[in-house]
Amino acid sequence: MVQRGEGEARYGIVGHPVDHSRSPTIHRLFARQAGVEISYELIDAPPESLETAIRGFAAAGGKGLNITVPHKEAALDLCDTVGEAAKLAGAANTLSLREGGTIRGDNTDGIGLIRDLQENRGLTVAGARILVLGAGGAARGIIGPLLAENPAELRLANRSRERADTLAAKWDSVVACTFAELADEAPFDLVFNATSAGLKGEAPPFPTNVVGSNSTAYDLVYSLKDTPFVTWAKAAGSRRAVQGWGMLVEQAAESFEIWHGNRPNTRAILTQLLGPRWNR
Ligand code: ATR
Repeated sequence: MVQRGEGEARYGIVGHPVDHSRSPTIHRLFARQAGVEISYELIDAPPESLETAIRGFAAAGGKGLNITVPHKEAALDLCDTVGEAAKLAGAANTLSLREGGTIRGDNTDGIGLIRDLQENRGLTVAGARILVLGAGGAARGIIGPLLAENPAELRLANRSRERADTLAAKWDSVVACTFAELADEAPFDLVFNATSAGLKGEAPPFPTNVVGSNSTAYDLVYSLKDTPFVTWAKAAGSRRAVQGWGMLVEQAAESFEIWHGNRPNTRAILTQLLGPRWNR
């Protein structure tokens, strides 16, 4: 049972599983920075009880919820009003629970990634050759926001060709292929790992020529040590190989701003979480 003080507004994250989530830590740090009192709870709900969990939290006075795997698409269907980014992504990661039981859905993952790339890491997406590895929900969430920055090219590669084709068909300019079909490609400027290969302990099955001395390899997965993709990218000769900590904190900051109208100082929080070398 979470202990709450008088006057604390309730927030939380719904996922399945959810116990690994860093969102409670991040939101509590933001709240301390802003001088607001919140509680932030972990809510584990299997798909069949997602709606009950969300409506029950709202009925008990909850103000907002983050939504994580595997619920982002299903959560969108429960929203009465939906922001543009959530509409485009077909998924919501931020719910605002309004008086009267209505729900507003937003998606801050895309803007979180773009902020991390451009503001924290000084990278330019405009004009870049981009490779996205994977064709599941994580890939779907980042392609729209990346295309909005006008890259020179966005290639989508996936183990299963069919899934790559289906996802790429949502945009005119995205070209799909298999990993093997990347074998003759020059290194890309930005290579995103949106597969779950590393999470399952499987070695990244990508050809090493896709990264080189001007590439940044970006793992949407994050860990306190090098992820399998980061290890692979460094060994393959990528100039930089980074994890998605910045995206995690930036998407959380966007959610915090939606709920509290106050934009956190994300660099201070990243330094607090990861130390002064967090953006290396
Ligand atoms: P999510 O929707 O959360 O991204 P997902 O639906 O499980 O998760 O999709 C995971 C992605 O990782 C898919 O692109 C999957 O490839 P397939 O479409 O071919 O299944 C990819 N993936 C998972 N394990 C992989 C592995 N060992 N090697 C390469 N790709 C892998």
